Amino acid sequence: MFMPKKLVIVLFVFATMPSNAQEGAGLGTPISQQNLAPWDISIQPNGDGLPPGSGSVEAGEAVYMQKCIACHGVEGSGGPYDQLVGGQGTLEQLQQVRTVGSFWPYASTIFDYIRRAMPFENPQSLTNDEVYALTAYLLFENGIIDEDDVMNSETLPEVEMPNEEGFILAYPTDKSMEEMNEI
Ligand code: HEC
Repeated sequence: MFMPKKLVIVLFVFATMPSNAQEGAGLGTPISQQNLAPWDISIQPNGDGLPPGSGSVEAGEAVYMQKCIACHGVEGSGGPYDQLVGGQGTLEQLQQVRTVGSFWPYASTIFDYIRRAMPFENPQSLTNDEVYALTAYLLFENGIIDEDDVMNSETLPEVEMPNEEGFILAYPTDKSMEEMNEI
């Protein structure tokens, strides 16, 4: 039977490949949902990813007094580490005071950051209710929400931050392109 040389070689290669070749190099095991969950905690600016739970300003103050004040100071300033309250109106100045209140564009990021990284010496130790409450407390101290407001997955994404319009998107959206064209 006539067979072109190239076809013979190809057939030979297939015939000698190990049967599990499609499964990759056989290194490691797929991660389980249970092991993935602690890493899968990003919150989007529109609130996607926010967990159930809620927290008031008052409850947040109580947690803050216990777990945050030593590093961030009374009512969010004057501590040895980052100032969390104040600085609004300073971004136009040479000496900017960047806090979560003056600088951060989305309130949902405050939740994400605290849950992920604080308290510094014991990250991911807070309950979701505590994180909502701390977020409410910091928003209140920054004059962004009222004392009676409660933060949860519905209310938090609706909070408008003073510097929301202060960032330039690296990847323009249709809307931002339209706005650019109008200038
Ligand atoms: C042991 C000290 C310590 C404690 C306690 C602590 N923090 Fe922090 N916090 C830090 C440090 C240090 C940073 C800056 C980390 C960095 O930039 O990588 C920070 C940063 C932050 C930021 C971001 C500030 C910014 O503008 O970038 C927030 C919000 C915050 N902390 C909230 C909290 C809350 C809420 C608590 C209490 C649950 C808390 N922290 C407890 C040390 C602490």
